[in-house]
Amino acid sequence: MANFYIGLMSGTSIDSVDAVVASFEQGQFKLIGHLSYDIPDHLKQAIQNLCQPGIDTVQLYAETDQRLGELFAQASLAMMAELGISSDQILAIGSHGQTVRHSAPGQGGIAFTQQIGDPNTIAARTGCPVVADFRRKDMALGGHGAPLVPAFHQQLFSDSEQNRVIVNIGGIANITVLPANGPCAGFDTGPGNLLVDSWCKKHLGKEYDNNGQWGAGGSCDTNLLKQLKSHSFFALPAPKSTGRETFHQQWLEQQLSQLPPIDAQDIQATLIQFTAETIADEINNLGLMVHELYVCGGGAFNTELMNRLGAAVTATVASTAALGLDPNWVEASAFAWLARQRLEAGTGNIAAVTGAERETVLGGLYLP
Ligand SMILES: Nc1ncnc2c1ncn2[C@@H]1O[C@H](COP(=O)(O)OP(=O)(O)OP(=O)(O)O)[C@@H](O)[C@H]1O
Ligand SMILES: [Mg+2]
Repeated sequence: MANFYIGLMSGTSIDSVDAVVASFEQGQFKLIGHLSYDIPDHLKQAIQNLCQPGIDTVQLYAETDQRLGELFAQASLAMMAELGISSDQILAIGSHGQTVRHSAPGQGGIAFTQQIGDPNTIAARTGCPVVADFRRKDMALGGHGAPLVPAFHQQLFSDSEQNRVIVNIGGIANITVLPANGPCAGFDTGPGNLLVDSWCKKHLGKEYDNNGQWGAGGSCDTNLLKQLKSHSFFALPAPKSTGRETFHQQWLEQQLSQLPPIDAQDIQATLIQFTAETIADEINNLGLMVHELYVCGGGAFNTELMNRLGAAVTATVASTAALGLDPNWVEASAFAWLARQRLEAGTGNIAAVTGAERETVLGGLYLP
């Protein structure tokens, strides 16, 4: 009997494809298995080029869409083989796709969002129905199309006594506010690991600053911190969303060029503080006494970032592992859940979060 869903997430960090198999018997989420699937370097480079206006072309867009469709299919098949699960046990694959451009409403220009990784190819290769293109319906209804994970966070992590906030620290960071009594809220807070990663790559040649150790050995430069925090995004009211096109290495270099030279390690320390503070500032300005903060996404493994976040809020800070779900698999699980919502004609967005005019069924269905 088919009773599993697959969730596929390839985030703004472009680190790997996260894949999960989940079940929802009697509405109860259960993580059955998971896999982290490598993105080959040439494909990472193609994605990075597509994210930059000027280097992007229609040819590159279409080729990368196709190649990512193949990669997402291979990730699903590898995980199914590892778990001994066949396609007829899968009700649907929920594939987020790779965001190559996000132009948020109310931030100048035409609002749109583009995720690629051809769902037809995933369906054809795996033999499973695929749900994809989750964000654009919300945008068509005036929303930001992001964040979409709060509805899943609410299902899984809300509590009737404690006011909780879930922080997802991927490339970009977003929060989900779960009051014990009251409506769920959520929005992007700004950079997550994006700048910390790219600065580390430039100076140490490593993909990320392991446990934030390099940054921990530097000291925060208050002028740079102030300069970074003066970006207009941080003054925007919710709903709000952002991406790679706003916070990237060149933006950082521009900010640095306006200040006297700063030691590279101190810059890393400042970037970690910047990420922690911009998340904490939003939490401290909610007008809600937050009791518990749970972190998911790869940022949960950056010890220095977690320490700085903990120091900047009054709530207790832990990873979502304390709530029973490893921080690595929360986002992919959300897309397994969103695929189920689509099949069962349930809504996926929270209008108060995205700013859409109403809640709606998200995603298109692609049959094998
Ligand atoms: N041990 C670690 N120390 C420091 N940072 C880590 C560690 N492990 C993972 N990370 C960080 O987590 C990032 C990957 O996180 P994740 O996969 O959640 O982000 P993402 O793919 O961008 O997702 P999203 O869609 O939420 O943006 C890495 O790029 C790295 O910055
Ligand atoms: Mg990732």
